[in-house]
Formats: sequence, structure tokens, C-alpha cells
Amino acid sequence: MSKILAIESSCDETAVAVLVDGKLLANVISSQVDVHRKYGGVMPEIASRLHAENIGVCLKEAYNQSHLSAKDMDAIAVTRGPGLIGCLHVGLQAAKALAFAHHKPLIPVHHLAGHIYANEYVGQLKFPLLAVVVSGGNTELVLMDKPLSFQIIGETKDDAVGECYDKVARVLGLPYPGGLPIDQHAQKGKHTYDIPVPLKGHRDYDFSYSGLKTSVVNLVHNLTQKGEEIRLDDMCRSFQDVATGMIVDRALRAAEEYHVKQVVLAGGVSANSDLRKKMQEVIKGDVELVIPPLWCTTDNAAMIAKVAEHLYEEKLFAPLSLAVDPNWKIDHYREF
Ligand code: KG4
Repeated sequence: MSKILAIESSCDETAVAVLVDGKLLANVISSQVDVHRKYGGVMPEIASRLHAENIGVCLKEAYNQSHLSAKDMDAIAVTRGPGLIGCLHVGLQAAKALAFAHHKPLIPVHHLAGHIYANEYVGQLKFPLLAVVVSGGNTELVLMDKPLSFQIIGETKDDAVGECYDKVARVLGLPYPGGLPIDQHAQKGKHTYDIPVPLKGHRDYDFSYSGLKTSVVNLVHNLTQKGEEIRLDDMCRSFQDVATGMIVDRALRAAEEYHVKQVVLAGGVSANSDLRKKMQEVIKGDVELVIPPLWCTTDNAAMIAKVAEHLYEEKLFAPLSLAVDPNWKIDHYREF
């Protein structure tokens, strides 16, 4: 039983949640995506400034929704990393100020643990579990043999899958963030373009998305130079098949090798309709597939509060000298 106030500000969403005895009483998200869209990606300096402007408003709204405030809480939780350094900093300073002013423990939370634990809003996690973490900043397979135990068994060697979607979208003239528009065009297209599959035949669980992005960029430039039409729907379908295929391939092999009871999807790219469909097709039998509801695929503080509930039981509290870590690895989440 716990009363948690959680803050998330790792990228372009300022978010505050209040979770009381497992009940989500407030879940406030202020997205900056409309501001960053005109730059074709997140501008870190602008993002930090907007967090600083928005955090107070989000806190106030969370207090209104929950009819509670920081003084009523058992702990203040905050995303400490990974993410953009200036953005993380704003959330951490707000959390520290509240913890200091109201004499509450401070709980540092790993952003990707948040994405994984968002699935607890769907149902109970069952171990051993394979988490397929696919977002704008990260792409990794995380094995959990028990609660709060994270082992990275595969990760991207270069770009994250969401980053690849956003860059490919830009080349195709689609708006930022590119995941949803590409997904929508792909639903109307056929796989007609030949796009090489990165790391084909590799038996480990690593990913590579930089080469995939370059293949699409080169293909688009070659077609343009030859004056050929680019069939947008078909291009999106061909790209999406390769991008999501890599994830499904790794997830299926890992689920089999590690005999997991559950596979959970996590992160922004888990909103992808083909990824959801393909995973449902291949993960079956005794292995349960958990897909997060769309509302918690994007960044939010409810997921941070969920992890913090568990960390509160373990009393994993940080001193007020805590600093952010933009490159914090999930298997080091106890080190701060
Ligand atoms: O989890 P998230 O907010 O990023 C990080 O926390 O790093 O995810 C954002 C990413 C963006 O790159 C966006 O293009 C992608 O998720 N995305 C999608 C879809 N919806 C969002 N990618 C593929 N298909 C989608 N439907």
C-alpha cells in the first residue's frame, strides 16, 4: 500500500501521476509534439524550457484530479534516465524540491522499466518474462526472471527503431513523429520495394536500424533521380515489414530459448499495428502476450508510478544529491 506522486520529463512529454494503493487517481500529460513537429524532431533546448514552463501546471492539475497533493504522499518518484539531459534535469529538480519541502523519500525510476511496468495496468506480470522494448530512443530485449530483475539480452547496435521511423518519415515527406503516418500508409500498400534485411541470419538478439534507414534514403534518392514515382503506400509497407520483422524474429527466438511465460510489448513503437498483429500470430501456446493499451505506449508518469510502487516496498530511495543519468542502463537501475 503506498501513495506515490510520479514525474516524467525524459523527452517531449511533461507528465505527473498520482497512484494511491494501486489506483491511478491522476494522469496528466502535456505533450510538446506540436512544437517539435515544425523542426522534424525533438529540439532538446526547447524541450527543456517547455518542461520548466509546464511542470508546475501539470502538478497543479494532478492535485486537482486526485484531490491530494505532495504533502499527502508516501514518496515522490521521478524518471532519472535514460533521456535528454536537460529534460530529465527539470523533472528531477521538481521532484527533489517536493521531496525536500515535504520530507518525503525520493525514488529514482528507470524510464524503460516504466514502459515495461505500464503493462501492469493490463494484468499481472508473470516470470520469466521477455520485454520487447521498442521506442524512439531505445530498442532492446529485456529478460526478467523475477520482479525488478532486468537482463538485456539484445539491443540495437546503432539507431533505435522509433528513430528510424522518424528519419524515414522525414525523407518521405511525412510529419514528425513518423511512426503513425508510416503505419497508416503501410496498411494501404504492398511490399513491392526490395529493402535488405539488416543482420539477416544472425543468431543473436541484437538489432540494427541505421542501415535500414540508409537503404530507404538511397532508394528514394535513386528513384527521384531517375524521375520515377515513389509509391508512398508501397514504400511504407516494404519498410514496415522489414522494421517490424526484425523485432518479431528476435522476440520469438528469445521467447523460445528462455522458455518465458509472458512476452510484453513496451514503448512508443508498440503502438504499431503490424507489430501487434504479427506478435499475436507468433506468440501463442503456453506463452502469454501482453500488449499495452495505446494510452500508455507513449510517455507518461503513470508507468513511472507503477515501478515506484514496487521500489517503495524495497525502500530504494535516493539522497537529494541525486543526479540524472541520460545513459542509465536498465540492468543498473539500483545504481545511482
Ligand atoms: O516511447 P516513445 O515516446 O519514445 C521514447 O520514450 O524514446 O516513442 C516514440 C516513438 C516515435 O519514434 C514514434 O515515431 C514511434 O514511437 N511510434 C510508432 C508508432 N506510433 C509511435 N512507430 C511505429 N508505428 C506506430 N504506430
